Amino acid sequence: MDFAPRIVAWQRQHGRHDLPWQNTRDPYRIWLSEIMLQQTQVATVIPYYERFLERFPDVAALAAASQEDVMPYWAGLGYYARARNLHRCAVQIAQDWNGRFPPTAEAIATLPGIGRSTAAAIAAFAYGERSPILDGNVKRVFTRHFGIAGDPAKREVETRLWALADAQVDAAPGLDMAAYTQGLMDLGATLCTRGKPACERCPMADTCVARREGRQAELPTPKVR
Ligand code: ADE
Repeated sequence: MDFAPRIVAWQRQHGRHDLPWQNTRDPYRIWLSEIMLQQTQVATVIPYYERFLERFPDVAALAAASQEDVMPYWAGLGYYARARNLHRCAVQIAQDWNGRFPPTAEAIATLPGIGRSTAAAIAAFAYGERSPILDGNVKRVFTRHFGIAGDPAKREVETRLWALADAQVDAAPGLDMAAYTQGLMDLGATLCTRGKPACERCPMADTCVARREGRQAELPTPKVR
């Protein structure tokens, strides 16, 4: 089986399916979860997420609030630029998008503080858009599985990784993009970890270059400094 369908099969069998943002296609709820999860762990995020949604149930409610109204609902999560950008995004969506969440990953990526990978994740979860993610964990999965040396933060390495990420989606017509995206995130967070990856439990082990060549500890290539 190809790369992407194996990730999906693994996610269906071993992944989480009951998190508060998983059983919705509301882009507002998915966006909020992705921003909260950027630098904060799932267990910490859940109560913040529920309080935030109770007070600001949709883009209109968030756009109508002031920056100061929002901050108490973020206090304790840290990285407060995320909350300021969240509010700026809501105002921009209200003004420029008629209050409706932008309809594609490309459009989502024009919002303040939302990079290409986060935009792709939101579009995959909310719309099923065939836009691949490539966050830090996923870069580790790809550099190992495909044996890509070089610092992934360098432009030419990153360009190669995006091309590989695109190719996996292109090779899998009818792919369940939500399950694939969640599966990649979960694999990178739980099995393909930085130290001591759990290759014996990994669904990708039999095609993984790093595993075959014993290079798990060398990939991804650390920054030279
Ligand atoms: N980190 C970022 N997005 C996530 C998600 N959807 N599930 C778990 N961890 C994440």
